[in-house]
Amino acid sequence: MRPLLSLCLAVFLAAPTLFADFAQADQTPIIDYRTRFLPQVAQHGMVAGPEKLAAEIGVDILRRGGNAVDAAVATGFALAVTYPRAGNIGGGGFMLVHLAEENRQLVIDYRETAPAAAGSALFLDEKGEVDRRKEFFSRASAGVPGSVAGLTLALEKYGTMSLKEVMQPAIALARDGFEVSYALNYEIGSRAERLLQDPVARKLFFHEDGSRYGIGETWRQPELAWTLQHIADKGRDGFYKGEVARRIAADMAANDGLITEADLAGYRALERKPVRGTYGDFEIVAPPPPSSGGVHIIQMLNILEGYDLAALGHNSAAYLHLLAESMKRAYADRSEYLADPDFYPVPVAKLIDKQYAAKLRKTIDPKRATPPEEIAPGRHMPGESTDTTHYTVADRHGNVVTNTYTLNFSFGSHIAVPGTGMLLNNEMADFAARPGHTNAFGLREGAANKIEPGKRPLSSMTPTLVMRDGKPWLATGSPGGSIIITAVMQTALNAMTFDMNIASAAAAARIHNQWLPDRVAVESGISPDTIKLLQDMGHTVETSPRTLGRTQSIMLSDGWLYGATDTRRPGGWVAGY
Ligand code: DON
Repeated sequence: MRPLLSLCLAVFLAAPTLFADFAQADQTPIIDYRTRFLPQVAQHGMVAGPEKLAAEIGVDILRRGGNAVDAAVATGFALAVTYPRAGNIGGGGFMLVHLAEENRQLVIDYRETAPAAAGSALFLDEKGEVDRRKEFFSRASAGVPGSVAGLTLALEKYGTMSLKEVMQPAIALARDGFEVSYALNYEIGSRAERLLQDPVARKLFFHEDGSRYGIGETWRQPELAWTLQHIADKGRDGFYKGEVARRIAADMAANDGLITEADLAGYRALERKPVRGTYGDFEIVAPPPPSSGGVHIIQMLNILEGYDLAALGHNSAAYLHLLAESMKRAYADRSEYLADPDFYPVPVAKLIDKQYAAKLRKTIDPKRATPPEEIAPGRHMPGESTDTTHYTVADRHGNVVTNTYTLNFSFGSHIAVPGTGMLLNNEMADFAARPGHTNAFGLREGAANKIEPGKRPLSSMTPTLVMRDGKPWLATGSPGGSIIITAVMQTALNAMTFDMNIASAAAAARIHNQWLPDRVAVESGISPDTIKLLQDMGHTVETSPRTLGRTQSIMLSDGWLYGATDTRRPGGWVAGY
């Protein structure tokens, strides 16, 4: 009786009240009960994201006849208001779009760029050491923001509604305010110390006496509403030119920042071809450089394809060992070969080549962890040449958008631009401040990713689409810096190899290894005897104090949409109809 009771409780907890709405769909959906957690189900359209109001705004756009791109752009601007730790207009990201009618996928790269005045020694002090304060928490740490260019480009090219229509809900929320949720209160509280140090951020996020908004209190952002209205009225020029641009540039000039009006006017979001790979019968579609995510998720899956993972058993020591070993090899290559492809010839084809994976697989001992010093970035490339957020949208036409964007850290540099309500990103920290050394996520990075004017810093953002029988089957993505790639891969593997429904695939405990530092981070939920077996193989295992990513996923199957917001962090929501 007891196991049955806990099973019922787990199901109940994993199926929030929204489930009642979905049950009112015309037919009863077929729910996959094979594993413990239940996904949300909808028939016509769905948004899975980190915050409720923004997810509901996206679904409302879908209900009104908008397509997945319209909804994604509306959700993106709404999150800039309701989820300030990572939703943004001052940051950048990658949007992966599947267009059902053309059966085509594309990536919008709206990663920030280094300002024209940025040089490779930007963050080095007189001794040649990295000045971490400057790298993380100064105006110099801001790249030229890409989010407004990315979202407006997506809408212009692939949306159906006007910018005014899709931005109206975000503007209303900023102007009229909304009730502070438990999650928002917590997020601001957890970063209060640093946010209070910037007078503009202090005014934005706190009462005059420095106390924070309580749960249920109304929080208004009139300056952000002003900025959003400029964008709605004038399109991208409302941000990159005119008064908003002047305010950003003036604040930079007065405070040792680098971004000028010319940098802003010159920013371009780019449309790129995704990288593609296969894993058994599945096709993986993900962003190309300057994200490292697509290349390495495919590289790791190529290595893992050579094993019968299902036979090893989900999260068994033998399985986790192979995951960790393939991760190490991919991150070693990342440290050397990944960067902005417009500045460095990234050997993408070689890295995602199945034969290269086969060579790497041969170096894996199934019983022993390879010490990191025995793994070097591959030497045979011919011609060698912690906060982000993710949301996923699907519409009734079969279009899918999976979008990851960020200010880099939670609340970016914790510095806001006067008169705009906008936080600055600290994305310049994703460059190699000192090649050969580690960055904020402990990732070692090479000269390929050194700072150069106009260059995009290397990213790990991995909005991913898994195709089955030529159609989108699973769309997912995650925050987590370097952890993003491995979190997304494990979520996909849980569904592809272990046949989990999307809620269970998202909930299952994950691990992460990034070559250096030499340790396997594990979430609670990996059993002590499994950890012991991994240690016996030579792995240094550490239970992670942080969650390893936070996925937002939609699975498309049997004509139904199955959604899952990762329950690792509070406030996530799946909205559907
Ligand atoms: O682009 C990247 O890889 C990082 N700037 C992402 C940062 C991040 O995910 C922080 N979140 N927890």
